[in-house]
Order: sequence, then C-alpha cells, then structure tokens
Amino acid sequence: MAKVLYIQVSPRGERSYSTAAAEAFLAAYREANPNDEIQKINLFDKELPPFDGPALQAKYNIMNREDHSEEDLAAWRGVEKIIEEFKSADKYVLSVPMWNFNIPYRLKHYIDILVQPTYTFQVTDQGGYEGLVTGKPMFIACSRGGAYPEGTGAEAFDHQVPYLRTILGMIGFTDPKILLAEPTLAAGPDAAQKAKEDALAKAEEMGKSF
Ligand SMILES: Cc1cc2nc3c(=O)[nH]c(=O)nc-3n(C[C@H](O)[C@H](O)[C@H](O)COP(=O)(O)O)c2cc1C
Repeated sequence: MAKVLYIQVSPRGERSYSTAAAEAFLAAYREANPNDEIQKINLFDKELPPFDGPALQAKYNIMNREDHSEEDLAAWRGVEKIIEEFKSADKYVLSVPMWNFNIPYRLKHYIDILVQPTYTFQVTDQGGYEGLVTGKPMFIACSRGGAYPEGTGAEAFDHQVPYLRTILGMIGFTDPKILLAEPTLAAGPDAAQKAKEDALAKAEEMGKSF
C-alpha cells in the first residue's frame, strides 16, 4: 500500500483550476489503486513553523557544522516534523496556482522549511547538490491566468514551472509530471472553460498510471 501526499496550494476551493485538475487526477488514481492512502495538506490551512530566528540559526549551524543551542534545537524540531511528514510519502501530487509569475507565498514558506542540507539534499565532494528524496513520482497541476507557451515572449515571465523544476529537482524529484491549466483568466471565460476541460481530461488519463 503506497502513501500519496497531496499538497494543495490554491485557497480558492471549488473555483480553483489547479485543485480541480489534481482532484480529477486523484479520482482516477484512487480507482486504479483503491488500497492506497491519500493524505491531503492544504497549505493555506496548515500551521507552518516560522522560518526565522532560532530555526534559521539552526539551519546555519548545520551548514557550518556547529552545535545547536537549546533554543535553536527546540525550533528545529518543528522543522524536522514537517520534513518527516513530507518524506513519509511514496508519491506526491501538488496543485499550484501562478501568483505574480511565481508560486504562492505559502508554498515558498513550505519549501523554505523542506529544503535542508542532510535532510532533503546534500552537497557533494565536488560542490554540487544531490537530492535525497529520490525514486518517488510527482505530479504537479499548475494553473495560470495567462498562457506562457515555449518560444513566445511570454515564456520568460514563467517563474512558476521553471522554479518548481529547479527546487524540486534539487531535492530529488528529477522528472515531475507537469500538467498546465491555462489560460484561466486572460483570454476570457470560453478559453478558461476549454482550459479546464482539457486539463481535467489529461489529469484523468495521467492519474490512471501513476
Ligand atoms: C495574487 C494573484 C496573483 C496572480 N498573478 C498571476 C500572474 O502573474 N500571471 C498569471 O497568468 N495569472 C496570475 N494570477 C491568476 C491565477 O494564476 C489564476 O487565477 C489561476 O487560475 C489560479 O489558480 P487556481 O484557479 O488554482 O486558484 C494571479 C492570481 C492571484 C490571486
């Protein structure tokens, strides 16, 4: 029995395109894998430890190979709990809106907690990065109000998908399956409806064999 961690990032409930795509994916997945466990985290509801003060100091202690003070360690335990929960999954499903050409701040906060040396990545002898969360599939449904096709001037504004590929690749997710729901706003309601129908159909197909 595999555990799927579903990380939902849109706070828009039923109006969300990324959530609808991820849920179509998961419905198909559930049908194909009825015994698997699906744990959902909504990042706008989840309590995340602040990543400043002693927690931040603890990160620097690790990078500088120094000991933690009691206060640093206590704050770090909260960070470790989030990382542990994340790493306990076998498979990952994310639904991520584009906000200001990038990801919503709650996901950035979550990433700042997750991406830690010795926990989710390590520095190699050659000074490169090596991901430590490896061999686990990931599906990401990305929604955007506009469209950012390759080879157009708009592509350079997309800091959502390239950033997710870079940061998740760094911790070991080298081949995430990314589905785009776009344009959900800029080209009007008919284009948005078509974007949704296309995304849901693709998500359903992809969910059958994940
Ligand atoms: C704060 C905020 C910033 C946004 N910035 C952008 C943007 O830079 N580019 C874009 O194409 N759409 C932008 N949008 C539109 C969303 O990407 C679009 O509504 C998308 O469908 C949101 O995902 P959701 O439907 O899953 O919530 C923004 C929306 C919000 C709320």
